[in-house]
Amino acid sequence: MLLLTSIPEMQDYSETQRKHGKRVAVVPTMGFLHQGHASLITIGRQQADTVITTVFVNPAQFGPAEDFEQYPRDLDRDMAVARQAGSDVVFHPEPAEMYPPQYESYVTVEHVSDTLEGAVRPGHFRGVATVVLKLLHITRPDVAVFGQKDAQQAFILKKMVRDLNLRIEMVVGPIIREEDGLAMSSRNVYLTPDERIRARVLFRALRHAEDRLRQGIRAAETIRSELTEMIHREHPSGIDYVAVVDPETFREVPSVERFPILVALAVRFGKTRLIDNVMAEQS
Ligand code: PAJ
Repeated sequence: MLLLTSIPEMQDYSETQRKHGKRVAVVPTMGFLHQGHASLITIGRQQADTVITTVFVNPAQFGPAEDFEQYPRDLDRDMAVARQAGSDVVFHPEPAEMYPPQYESYVTVEHVSDTLEGAVRPGHFRGVATVVLKLLHITRPDVAVFGQKDAQQAFILKKMVRDLNLRIEMVVGPIIREEDGLAMSSRNVYLTPDERIRARVLFRALRHAEDRLRQGIRAAETIRSELTEMIHREHPSGIDYVAVVDPETFREVPSVERFPILVALAVRFGKTRLIDNVMAEQS
């Protein structure tokens, strides 16, 4: 497997692939790869001839008080995981090459970037949309693969690709979980053993939401308050949101009128902020 670190090298590689009639897939990541990332690389492998995994901890999507410096990094391990999952290339640029001095161009997907994750992390989705648009221009894929774990991010990026007329197929892979249900995340390594156990409540709460919807509960407030209470019992440091969201618009709904419906949450355990969601179908 190839490691490319410069933008022109990456562009040349991708152009050569296309010239040879290869279908190219890209899987953008911030590294510290786990089986969730690997599952997206596997999907890319199934959909294309050449799979590029990008590993870049994007400073533009971290707030000043967030964990950019502390974000876990391990390129050697990432290379091994990416290769094993079927990636042909890892693209790992330096921040200074992606954002040279005087860098001033950003892209914003309006409105939806200001709610839920965006409300708690102002500017976050501007940074995500900008880096992903850059990575799509650099790698020029036919297919780009993202995870449902970051449901709002996937929604925003699909919208960006549609709005800006990029000819790229956007594929969203399912959430990969640990055996006890905790959604895999690079940030899980920050959890203390005690927080790690308490964090199981997130998946329990989401399953409870599915049960209640199956039983006919339609008021979003009922779902929100029951989940909030369940989570509070495990003494998190804070709940940023529990939301019942129409996946077509990504707007919160007061009552569930149609399915599927997304229940999404963000909860802090100590210094670690975890997000998770479930797409509930009508039974
Ligand atoms: P990162 O958090 O590294 O995630 C990279 C991709 O892996 C995202 O599409 C995310 O949704 C997906 N992913 C993470 N955990 C997953 C899990 N448990 N199951 C399935 N997929 C999972 O998301 C980012 O990086 C960045 O914002 C990025 C898009 C790379 C832009 O910088």
